[in-house]
Amino acid sequence: MDYKTTTPKSGVIERYREYLPVTESTPIVSLGEGSTPLVFCPRLSKRVGRAVFVKNEGANPTGSFKDRGMTVAVSKAIERGSKVLICASTGNTSASAAAYAARAGISCAVVLPAGKIATGKLLQAFACGAKIIPLEGNFDDALRIVRQLGEQGDLTVVNSINPDRIAGQKTAAFEIVDALSDAPDFHLLPVGNAGNVTAYWAGYREYRARKKSTKLPAMIGFQAAGAAPIFYNRVVEKPETVASAIRIGNPASWKQARAATSESRGAIDVVTDEELLSAQTWLARHEGIFVEPASAASIAGLFKCCDSKEATYLLQKIPEESQIVCTVTGHGLKDPDVITSKMKDLRSVPATVDDVRRAVGL
Ligand code: F0G
Repeated sequence: MDYKTTTPKSGVIERYREYLPVTESTPIVSLGEGSTPLVFCPRLSKRVGRAVFVKNEGANPTGSFKDRGMTVAVSKAIERGSKVLICASTGNTSASAAAYAARAGISCAVVLPAGKIATGKLLQAFACGAKIIPLEGNFDDALRIVRQLGEQGDLTVVNSINPDRIAGQKTAAFEIVDALSDAPDFHLLPVGNAGNVTAYWAGYREYRARKKSTKLPAMIGFQAAGAAPIFYNRVVEKPETVASAIRIGNPASWKQARAATSESRGAIDVVTDEELLSAQTWLARHEGIFVEPASAASIAGLFKCCDSKEATYLLQKIPEESQIVCTVTGHGLKDPDVITSKMKDLRSVPATVDDVRRAVGL
């Protein structure tokens, strides 16, 4: 049988093949990732007085941006004859690696900080048959061990230290430029292990070099205040934040993230857990986009640039005619615990039209 992998979406390798490290002989492992919505957000735009678009990466096959890089990393791993994938993860990478490994028919081991992975993500890795290894340590410990295992040669590491991951993830920048017909003026996104900010910056630069855009955006990355090594310029031994996806104290792409934000005349800033959660709720209630807490860092960051004098980047510096893109990195259903705890007082009503009418508030 020789059907196209997926229809109508073809996946990032088919769409951007000429920009990626693949050849005709690379076997393509795809779940139809990419082509995610770039949503113009009228209420968000009104609140900040600038045109704001949200790149909704939760619309990828496993619900996060990781799938863009994983299709390339797993395709290349298969091409090289790899039989076992491994990654350290705060959750999303493991969910994506597990799915693409299953798709490729190879095995996958995921090393995760024990008890610290959001429910939905752990379920995804389990459902796709990954070998789950809960580690008595945090993400930084997990990545250190996985790096060492990778050096021993029999395992392929699919964390963003694998350049094929970054290559795939840069396609998000291509999609934004293709949709807007040029690069935006500002790009805001959450920062954890710092692979994504590195990838976007590579994508924007590559597209400009190929004359697909006339400008480059300022890259503004947001870390959670309790897990902000790049912002504070020191390793955080015990990172803490409600946003478990970005609970990272020693990011692998630290230097590249610094380069991206300084070369682009952007910034790295922090947002508190309270700001993250309130931005998560605001975005869901005002724009209908439900994201996980870590993803809300870009939105919380935008509000900070707008409302707080302490922001590293003040919105007053941003001309009113500017276009701003905020990436939201993962779907809200992956990490539902905080919102679930707010739903406890739902009470049932008798099954009559009158009771339901009253409950609706009419
Ligand atoms: N947002 C979400 C939802 C994530 O899962 C991650 C990283 C980030 C943002 C930060 O991206 O690391 O490229 O700066 N998650 C990794 C994981 C660490 O294991 O799933 P980054």
